[in-house]
Amino acid sequence: MESTLPKLHHHSLVKLTLLIFTVLHYQLPPVTTSPLPKEALPTRSGYLKVNSSTGSSIFYTYYEAQKPIFPLSQTPILIWLQGGPGCSSMLGNFYELGPWRVSSNVTVEPNPGPWNRVFGVLFIDNPIGVGFSIASSVEEIPRNQHDIAKHLFIAIKKFISLDGSYKTRPVYVTGESYAGKYVPGFGYYALKRNARLPVDSRINLQGVAIGNGLTDPITQVGTHALNAYYSGLVNDKQRKVLEDLQKEAIGLTQRANWSEATNARNKVLNKLQNMTGLATLYDFRRLIPYQDDLVAEFLKNAEVRKQLGVKDNAVFQVCSDVVGTALHEDVMKSVKYMVEYLVKNTKVLLYQGHCDLRDGVVSTEAWVKKMKWERIGEFLEAERKVWKVNNELAGYVQKLGSLSHVIVLGAGHLVPTDQAVNSQAMIEDWVLEKGLFSNDGQKDRMVIDL
Ligand SMILES: *[C@@H]1O[C@H](CO)[C@@H](O)[C@H](O)[C@H]1NC(C)=O
Ligand SMILES: *[C@@H]1O[C@H](CO)[C@@H](O)[C@H](O)[C@H]1NC(C)=O
Ligand SMILES: *[C@@H]1O[C@H](CO)[C@@H](O)[C@H](O)[C@H]1NC(C)=O
Ligand SMILES: *[C@@H]1O[C@H](CO)[C@@H](O)[C@H](O)[C@H]1NC(C)=O
Repeated sequence: MESTLPKLHHHSLVKLTLLIFTVLHYQLPPVTTSPLPKEALPTRSGYLKVNSSTGSSIFYTYYEAQKPIFPLSQTPILIWLQGGPGCSSMLGNFYELGPWRVSSNVTVEPNPGPWNRVFGVLFIDNPIGVGFSIASSVEEIPRNQHDIAKHLFIAIKKFISLDGSYKTRPVYVTGESYAGKYVPGFGYYALKRNARLPVDSRINLQGVAIGNGLTDPITQVGTHALNAYYSGLVNDKQRKVLEDLQKEAIGLTQRANWSEATNARNKVLNKLQNMTGLATLYDFRRLIPYQDDLVAEFLKNAEVRKQLGVKDNAVFQVCSDVVGTALHEDVMKSVKYMVEYLVKNTKVLLYQGHCDLRDGVVSTEAWVKKMKWERIGEFLEAERKVWKVNNELAGYVQKLGSLSHVIVLGAGHLVPTDQAVNSQAMIEDWVLEKGLFSNDGQKDRMVIDL
């Protein structure tokens, strides 16, 4: 029997089959390959231009409060700034405190303690050049805290203008590690700037929080040797080696030899790493380092990038080498005076994961002791209270007036990663002035729901 098909060469038949297949395939609904399901998408995300002549822009993701306890127009907004210098706040978003976190199989899982339960949370890739943020040229990347704060102020004001209800909401700026510089830098700039602006053009800043921060490096770099020695991690001979390296870093800082001072601090940390052989100085308990590379892997996915509104040309690194280099000379510069200004004009939370050997508890207490503040003596004499969450030991809280200090047990440098629920309890109680952060300061937090 003769085929009803026109006579075709074998070659053409293959072509036709391919064509039919292609047409059919084209008509099928696109296969969703995204590991970021709809329910995990931010409320909004994208770019906030900070320089209209060059186009440099700050990337953000924003998650509205899941269960707000106030009308949205009064619901606080937390801003999160990652450290580095040069690291992306997508680490905070997808590995620490965001509502969904990347797990070891590079898919997202709900976070048991997201910081956006009762507050909105805004993650900002700061400064330009970090994460998905765009720096039109390397020269435009800020090299000091004042210039970083200036861009942040522009970006945050632009964000607030995106929705009529944002304008009245209290803003709290939070962050970790090198954000021990950015957070005071922004707070200081914003309060001074606000004072020169009409009320309705201000940013409604109500407090700042720093986790495992680098804030007064000259003091902090001097604490590693003794901290490691009394933790039993180095012997007396090694302690002396570390102390000599610390003296070098302190001397260079005093002589304002900024670049060499940063290198000298790195030498201290490298030597400590080498002596202890730990997997990471960020948490002395860990047998493997924090897996921030999972976030980079996740954000390589083209579908995820499209969903987040990332520009095609944005090249993502968890920590940008270019920005790290731009801020190399900033590392050892102290912003302690800015915290002194903030503690007098707003409220300040300093918290540290207990197991961090880089910017931990001892390192923070060393500079807090030296703060110029009329109430510092009283603060240092205040009781350090045992802090419990759901009847379990969570850490310690010391509070006097506008200054709170929290030690988070069972956590390293990335506190929300290690203690999601307790870190959520901490930030909520601090913002809302409840539990040990209330002004009578007696009550433990008994229940997770407010
Ligand atoms: C914008 O970029 C131009 C050119 O680099 C620069 O002169 C100006 O100061 C920048 N403005 C801000 C706010 O950074
Ligand atoms: C990924 O890992 C989580 C636990 O970490 C698990 O609940 C989930 O089912 C895994 N997903 C896939 C696609 O394997
Ligand atoms: C900074 O310190 C290094 C190393 O001690 C030294 O060689 C260099 O001359 C110093 N630079 C300045 C500007 O003092
Ligand atoms: C420490 O440094 C020495 C000398 O460079 C090296 O031989 C040793 O393997 C290092 N130890 C660790 C744990 O990195």
